[in-house]
Amino acid sequence: MLEIMQDKVVSKIKTRWCGKITKNDINQRINIAGWVATVRDLGGIIFAEIRDRTGVIQLVADPGKNPEIHKILEQLRDEYVIAASGIVTQRPTETFNPNLGTGTIEIYPDKVEILNRAETPPFMIDTDQEISEDLRLKYRYLDIRRPKMLNNLILRHNIVAAIRNFLNAQEFIDVETPELIRTTPEGARDYLVPSRIYPGKFFALPQSPQIFKQLLMVGGIERYYQIAKCFRDEAQRADRQPEFSQVDLEMSFIDCDDIIAITEGIVVEAFKCGGIELTPPFMHLTYKEAMETYGSDRPDTRFNLKLIDISDIMEKSSFTAFADQVKAGGSVRALCVSGISEYSRKDMDDIRNLAVSFGAKGLAWITYGLDGSIKSPIFKFLTEEEVGILQQRTNAKPGDIVFIVADKNKVVFDVLGRLRLHFGDKLNLIDKSKHNLLWVVDFPMFEVDEETNGLSAVHHPFTSPNPEDADLLNTDPIKCRALAYDIVYNGNELGGGSIRIHNPELQRKVFELLGLSDEEIKEKFGFMVNAFRYGAPPHGGLALGLDRVVALIAGTNSIREVMAFPKSSQARCLMTDAPAEASEEQLQELHLKIIMPHKK
Ligand code: AMO
Ligand code: AMP
Repeated sequence: MLEIMQDKVVSKIKTRWCGKITKNDINQRINIAGWVATVRDLGGIIFAEIRDRTGVIQLVADPGKNPEIHKILEQLRDEYVIAASGIVTQRPTETFNPNLGTGTIEIYPDKVEILNRAETPPFMIDTDQEISEDLRLKYRYLDIRRPKMLNNLILRHNIVAAIRNFLNAQEFIDVETPELIRTTPEGARDYLVPSRIYPGKFFALPQSPQIFKQLLMVGGIERYYQIAKCFRDEAQRADRQPEFSQVDLEMSFIDCDDIIAITEGIVVEAFKCGGIELTPPFMHLTYKEAMETYGSDRPDTRFNLKLIDISDIMEKSSFTAFADQVKAGGSVRALCVSGISEYSRKDMDDIRNLAVSFGAKGLAWITYGLDGSIKSPIFKFLTEEEVGILQQRTNAKPGDIVFIVADKNKVVFDVLGRLRLHFGDKLNLIDKSKHNLLWVVDFPMFEVDEETNGLSAVHHPFTSPNPEDADLLNTDPIKCRALAYDIVYNGNELGGGSIRIHNPELQRKVFELLGLSDEEIKEKFGFMVNAFRYGAPPHGGLALGLDRVVALIAGTNSIREVMAFPKSSQARCLMTDAPAEASEEQLQELHLKIIMPHKK
């Protein structure tokens, strides 16, 4: 039933897309097929709009002219699937519909076939009316017929195509890597797949293709990419899914600048698909600058409101609660928020509670009243001179409130960084027209794991230390910077990567610092250490979160909006009702026994 027309394979049932028929087709015979979007019976004449993914076209049946066709159109209901054939005609001018691409034409079909009937859908298809997300996910196949999801999926396709074109032109080759693997070191919890053949053994689903792409470099591929499925069993958020996609790439014989340049190329092409022109090179911020200025390693630079370090002032003060934090290696920092000095007691309590929910032990504040008054619960601990220096440092003016947090740096940055975003949003400080892309570079190699008190990798254990800091690996590893970089868009982490270690001794050293014994290194990464003995080229790479890239270009924060079949916010598939129980036979085959958790 297929024939080739104009280089495309066109079906005889459907020779044209509904939304792509134009005035140029007037007097042509065409065959269309699609879903009934609306049917109206106006004094005997029936008008039916037929929809496919490109748009709608109007069919008309006049009982006086063609009673048989009229009889068929009488049976049509919303979402019936039909095929029709007829000659395209111009509508009478007074019935032109300027809201429709095909609003000046219509078809009086001489053949209509109902291909399938449809029950009344649980929600309207042809509107962007708000519907509960759970209902949308349960009937995702209907949600995909709706304009919003459809447009997002088309945008996603265009972005993926643009990225592939760009990388193909840059001589990358697309290589698939396996989904049933040993565990990957990305730091989230693995999804495990029990083995039937090997009782008690499990595959893990990849958290990323990290290890395999590095082995492809040892294999001489030099420029690899893949739109890769990744699986991470971690807390759900609007921008996190258990199963998501990365634009994953790796290159040999390169440095940070090369990876950055390639990634900027990808991002420019992707954003073009959403009509957004970006102009690289994007700004670079060191990790230290990002934390100290914005309290975040993914700073939203669309608004100012910067953190201010007041540790030196407080260290000398007689407010021991603050001074001691600085002496213990922590800091005291402030955020000066304008125009809120008239906040009520309740407003202040709310902000304090918010800060505590972010992990603060307390939140100190100084209010600069519009009448020139200055009030603060911590003034009793400060001299007049200190109060003056504080005002100078924070540049506070009447109408402002300065919020202060004293703690370990990690807590200070996190709390003030999140308060900053809270005020940015609440006080409308964010310029929504901006598209701010930037790189965060010079990440630390290690951080202290709160549970074990040992070191853990900030990126992953294959990340190269900055050669300038090589000595620090032996003397003060926590100060060692990594050759790692993240790309950030309007406060969202789009992707991250690093230059990798390709020297087996250095890799061993880093594993050791991460607390792995010789045995563990051999057991977990023996194959990789081995591979690196056979001529590993210097290499590095990066992965972009594809779902995030598409969502942000589409103007939404929820990656579920750009995935055809996402899991719900509770990590379930509401359409297929997964995860589901396995049968007793399946469990037996897999040598598994279920021990249910005690109900609390
Ligand atoms: P990383 O772990 O930083 O790096 O992941 C790269 C990007 O993937 C996206 N991402 C997610 N998107 C949706 N849901 C999730 N659960 C999720 N987790 C991560 C983010 C993130 O920036 N192998 C390294 C890359 C490398 O070193 O080359 C890696 O996976 O946008
Ligand atoms: P206190 O002496 O404990 O009553 O604290 C005086 C003020 O400092 C109160 O407003 C507390 O909320 C605030 N405060 C106490 N500890 C901290 C802290 N670690 N960071 C910021 N403010 C704090």
